[in-house]
Amino acid sequence: MSDNESLDPAEIHAQAAALAAHLQRSGVSFLPVANPASVELLADQFAVPEPSSPDPPAVSPPKPPAPAAASKPAMPKTRLETVPAFSTTDGDYDGKALSADDRKAQLQILAEQVSQCTSCEILASCRTQTVFGEGSPQARFLFFGEGPGADEDRSGRPFVGKAGQLLTKMIVACTLDRADCYITNTVKCRPPGNRNPEGDELQNCKAFYQQQLNLIRPEYIVCLGAIAASELLGTKLSVGRLRGKFHQYRGSKVLVTYHPAYLLRNPAAKKAAWEDLQRLMADAGIELPGK
Ligand code: URA
Repeated sequence: MSDNESLDPAEIHAQAAALAAHLQRSGVSFLPVANPASVELLADQFAVPEPSSPDPPAVSPPKPPAPAAASKPAMPKTRLETVPAFSTTDGDYDGKALSADDRKAQLQILAEQVSQCTSCEILASCRTQTVFGEGSPQARFLFFGEGPGADEDRSGRPFVGKAGQLLTKMIVACTLDRADCYITNTVKCRPPGNRNPEGDELQNCKAFYQQQLNLIRPEYIVCLGAIAASELLGTKLSVGRLRGKFHQYRGSKVLVTYHPAYLLRNPAAKKAAWEDLQRLMADAGIELPGK
């Protein structure tokens, strides 16, 4: 910005507008928060003449540079996001939100249907039982995993094995109670050998989790890992590309983070996952101790 005097303000304005339009087309939805002092400074320096004015006013000369770094307005810490925000639908959830009792009743009916499902021949023949999901029908936070493992298949409950214990710790670290959240998976049967669910299996289970979400309509959905994220958001982008910002699924804000099983194998990624959860809590207005 030291060459301001040699720049044509109208040209700068046009370029900035073109850049903003480009970013918008690229799906950038979270631009850095503007620092008011900087905005004022730039607005003064790059004031654009009124198009209708026959005699445009002169551009204000640039203000002298701030004397010392210490007196510069502190810019907020930001990360210019380049990943598009995914929205599977513009609308909110279908129909009217049900009362807590009705949600509970409808979820029970759905769980019963799930337990009878034989759409995936292999999964239905290998499972001990289906793992529908559990938690509060009015949960503000819904954690969306991939699929049951051996422990979940045995118990009929989601995220109760080693990865589940880590998830519970993550939830508690957010000062939340696991029972107040809702936890479910893309598929309700354990894929044999803990392999990833296959395309047709995800497809067969889609209506079940869609109905769960439509009943619970949480304010936030946390996608745990790439399968959950790609399933919900319809993208092939990695967790690394998707994390760090909010996406949208119907009426819910969606945050993508690493799957707890991945964190157990790669403890170095725990820091990033914790940053994701801090972002979630900050957005939800929940203050974390020591923050
Ligand atoms: N991993 C998952 O994705 N879901 C579970 O329920 C357990 C482990």
